[in-house]
Amino acid sequence: MDRELHARLDELQRDPYPLYTRVRQIEGLTRLAELDAWLVARDADVREVLRRPEDFSSAVALLPDVLPSPAALAVLGGGFGGRPVVVTADGAQHQQLRAPIVRGLSPARVTAVLPYAAERAAALVDTFAKDGHVELMSAYAKRLPGEVIGRIVGLDPADVPGVVHGGHRAEELLFRPLEEDEQIAAAEDVVAMQQTLDRLVQERHAQPRQDLCTELITSVTDGDLTLEHRHQLVAHLQNLLIAGHLTTTALIGTTVLHLLRHPGQWELLCAEPERIPAAIEEAARYDTALQGFRRITTRPVTLAGTELPAGATLFIAFGAANRDETRYARADTFDITRTPSRHLAFGFGVHSCPGSQLAREQLRLTLEELTRRLPGLRLAEDRPVTMRPTMIHRSPYALHLNW
Ligand code: HEM
Repeated sequence: MDRELHARLDELQRDPYPLYTRVRQIEGLTRLAELDAWLVARDADVREVLRRPEDFSSAVALLPDVLPSPAALAVLGGGFGGRPVVVTADGAQHQQLRAPIVRGLSPARVTAVLPYAAERAAALVDTFAKDGHVELMSAYAKRLPGEVIGRIVGLDPADVPGVVHGGHRAEELLFRPLEEDEQIAAAEDVVAMQQTLDRLVQERHAQPRQDLCTELITSVTDGDLTLEHRHQLVAHLQNLLIAGHLTTTALIGTTVLHLLRHPGQWELLCAEPERIPAAIEEAARYDTALQGFRRITTRPVTLAGTELPAGATLFIAFGAANRDETRYARADTFDITRTPSRHLAFGFGVHSCPGSQLAREQLRLTLEELTRRLPGLRLAEDRPVTMRPTMIHRSPYALHLNW
């Protein structure tokens, strides 16, 4: 993608909502050069695509905006992975890849991790509670989700920061226009993360435990761990970790941001914390982290009256569907007193998010901590908030708060 188009894409990603509103009102589908795809923005159309995975394949779900340079690709070639992953798989292969993840993130496994998650949420707030100010993204939002999913997967806590860093670097490499030396450095960080994950795979193969890594190993091998298995397992783990922590980090940031931009609603939440679950649903509906993923048609289809050939790429905008006025009254208003309804922030259908309960629990713990301990929280007036230009981890770059 050239730099000028990338600059337009950045502008769109910082605030996609006015475009979504326009496109929802246009009959049929609208093609967007910035996304190189047809934008699917109405709730009914998004649901129709998600209901028909055999016509709308996920093969392109993770299509990068930037192709790394040959030198960066050479560095990546020395790492692990490059095998099918759940988000981009279809049909029987998708079911096979998804099953161990669903088992590893079962309600019982999520419940079992909650005491640890609660302890970590409280300990992170302890680190700044007496300071009167914090930059919440780096002090909290980028830390809790990695620690929690690290625990579920079975990572040594000492390895969590490197793995979280590797996830952010993988995103930069594939979605930001970086200079070549920066690309190489990012690729090296990604490979370091993959090596950590490969070490974990070898350890768990030798000594299985009750964790998600062991669950994945059992799903691909019933005996020896070959080099091919190691590549498959690292790809699986990398995908799962990135899907799990970057998204949750982002939603923690946007949720706190919107609550504090609406001080009346923040005060209401502090006075009536039983409203926390509804506030989480509203924040996820109003400004979700994963704004959308791509699909590609497997045969000629008609969607919203637009005829598409086989091989057409669509951008399925969960974030646009969640603001559809035909489904939500005052859809552009953030209102935590709204009765929660089934929004699309966690997708829908065969690919729907298997980590949604874990994400919601972390949001709950976060809001319980912050409303109880820091009810005087407000946005720092001298630090305007800028959103990161991304469709997959929408969040503030930084969130400076005072109390
Ligand atoms: C606020 C946090 C999160 C958001 C907004 C979110 C959103 C989503 C969405 C919209 C999808 C559907 C993608 C599609 O249809 O192509 C999805 C899939 C997925 N999510 Fe999440 N997610 C979050 C947290 C998590 C967590 C905590 C985990 C794991 C621990 C996770 C793991 C996954 C995986 C593995 C998939 C792929 C499932 C499949 O393709 O069958 N997510 N997520």
